[in-house]
Amino acid sequence: MKVLVVGGGGREHAIIRKLKESKKITKIHATPGNGGMYKEAKTVNIGAKDIDAIVKYAVDNKIDYAVVAPDDPLVLGCVNALEKVGIPAFGPRAEAAIIEGSKVFSKNLMKKYGIPTADYHVFSDANEALDFIKTAPIPTVIKADGLALGKGVIIAFTREEAIDAINSVMTDKKFGSSGDNIVIEEFLEGPEVSVLAFTDGKCVKPMISSMDHKRALDGDKGLNTGGMGTIAPNPYYTKEIADVCMETIFLPTIEAMNKEGRTFKGCLYFGLMLTKNGPKVIEYNCRFGDPETQVVLPLLESDLFEIMQATTNGTLADCEVKFSDKSACCVIMASKGYPEKYENGFEMVIPEEIEKSVYVAGAKYENGKIYSAGGRVLGVTDVNKTLKGAIDGAYAKVNKIKFDNAFYRHDIGARALLATEEK
Ligand code: AMP
Ligand code: GLY
Repeated sequence: MKVLVVGGGGREHAIIRKLKESKKITKIHATPGNGGMYKEAKTVNIGAKDIDAIVKYAVDNKIDYAVVAPDDPLVLGCVNALEKVGIPAFGPRAEAAIIEGSKVFSKNLMKKYGIPTADYHVFSDANEALDFIKTAPIPTVIKADGLALGKGVIIAFTREEAIDAINSVMTDKKFGSSGDNIVIEEFLEGPEVSVLAFTDGKCVKPMISSMDHKRALDGDKGLNTGGMGTIAPNPYYTKEIADVCMETIFLPTIEAMNKEGRTFKGCLYFGLMLTKNGPKVIEYNCRFGDPETQVVLPLLESDLFEIMQATTNGTLADCEVKFSDKSACCVIMASKGYPEKYENGFEMVIPEEIEKSVYVAGAKYENGKIYSAGGRVLGVTDVNKTLKGAIDGAYAKVNKIKFDNAFYRHDIGARALLATEEK
């Protein structure tokens, strides 16, 4: 079968590599993909938001199945558009992708169905928000309603910071129309866990848990990024906590979406915080996480393509979703300056023996060489019997890569390791 993967980052590279293991797939196309995937997929220069061009390409090239990975095309209705021309696709339709596309929607959904999350208030008027903040408990969290490349969340530790945040999001429109409405919510504390789950709208099959590292610098300092590294499984996420999450969060969310007439099929990402009052939802994403996917999929032992088709067909209950009992660590090599200004075009040399462990997020291919092209550029993963082994293995591989403009965190997994040793 011919498969089209929509998207072009490290997450998509991890998805493509896992799909390649499936015997049913003969060829993979990627729109747009990136230069680092040239050995595994035919990359086609169509932007992930250009739905019309994606659909035309899929029809012209007789694509049998599509995987829509990023949030933007999902929220814009890429799955709906592909289905309309008879091409089945992995991922939620637009009406369900709103669970990530609008924080106001997701907060109201959780409130209506009693799914544990931070207390919140919604504002569409900056003056009302500023008025509210005069007496709100501090720290507080301010979130733009719409998509903002993972940057639309501001944690204000003082009242002044909260006022600045409201002004920049609502008045100065830092995130454009995504900030027309905002959510102001209670500041929660506790370890964070990412759980990606396959669902066909009837049953939920969670994947192995993981932990992201969102800040740019060691010790969780610096600016928020798309994610600088991940480990799996997350040692804070015990079997007991997983059972509580299934009961109070995962199943109720699937049920709630069904009741709203917005059945969710695909991968639902639960961003959780394990507070002293139990697990609470920090955010939903309507897709695989990046770079969570780069540690979760290498641990998947079942056939990803079969699972994806089962979510589309509504037969997930009969499909095996099995993970290895090993650990994985992914270290992101970014361009110096990311998440702010950075330069592109640096040659990268990845030794052949570690090629399969490197997921390329942003690269250009020219005459047999690849050059950096993006903020987050490479994800370097190691799988090992122990978490410590995976962390050491990932950094050993990082040291073998030649990429002069690289910067990366040196402490991916360090906190998780402490938690493991405490046990
Ligand atoms: P999000 O984009 O919603 O994942 O938020 C980015 C990060 O902000 C999360 O990973 C958390 O670390 C933090 N965050 C979001 N909401 C809250 C909250 N209510 N309390 C504390 N931290 C939060
Ligand atoms: N790593 C966080 C995300 O994919 O949104």
